[in-house]
Amino acid sequence: MAADNPFRAFLKADLWREWARQETDQRKEIPPPPIQKPIPPDAPQVALVAPEDFTLGTMPLIEAIRRRRSRRSFTPAPLTLEELSFLLWATQGISRTPSGEPLQRGAAVLRTVPSGGARHPFETYVAARDVTGLAAGLYRYLPLEHTLCFLQEYEAVRPRLALAARQQRMIAEAPVVFIWTVIPYRTEWRYSIVAPICIKLSTSLPDTGGYPKMSATQRYR
Ligand SMILES: Cc1cc2nc3c(=O)[nH]c(=O)nc-3n(C[C@H](O)[C@H](O)[C@H](O)COP(=O)(O)O)c2cc1C
Repeated sequence: MAADNPFRAFLKADLWREWARQETDQRKEIPPPPIQKPIPPDAPQVALVAPEDFTLGTMPLIEAIRRRRSRRSFTPAPLTLEELSFLLWATQGISRTPSGEPLQRGAAVLRTVPSGGARHPFETYVAARDVTGLAAGLYRYLPLEHTLCFLQEYEAVRPRLALAARQQRMIAEAPVVFIWTVIPYRTEWRYSIVAPICIKLSTSLPDTGGYPKMSATQRYR
């Protein structure tokens, strides 16, 4: 399959003209959807290290870029809660509101990462196997609160991790696995038919075969 690959159309930007003519939900003045999934009732919440208290991150950016590599085997050392807090904040944390006003539920926010139209459709789940001071389990990151909410025991999730990553066993060996899912409507509210392209462009893994985007932490051998 080459030039006749029908999926190549996805790479083109020719849907914008049609989008400009559409009655999107935003143009209909329908209120935007919530920026964070609701917290399940009774889900215990775990406090994270606040961004202003981070002590790590002293390596110069240029050095970090020079040393960056994909790693597939990991040391037996656990992650610290500060490292996990930093990774969550650095990948989906809220940095401020658009005009600097205090955070308000329902209002748009800016995060540490960019997103088409600041729609931020991602939800972050963490399968934590070995983090100091954190019970093993599946958690969801709550960026508004900068906390984790506990969802499931880790052992119930572990067998499904490697499966979701197309049998790559190292995923279940990582001390922490990040799983990003998408609420498409957050982006569709503004971008309707162009939303899937915006969402895909916002990921570093453009296609994992329809499975959630997965990434092991860089605590490597
Ligand atoms: C879209 C995308 C999907 C990838 N999927 C996997 C994967 O499923 N398993 C894996 O071990 N590495 C995966 N990688 C990592 C690449 O194999 C890696 O970036 C490449 O070999 C270059 O190595 P480097 O990251 O050390 O420069 C993926 C990278 C990208 C950008």
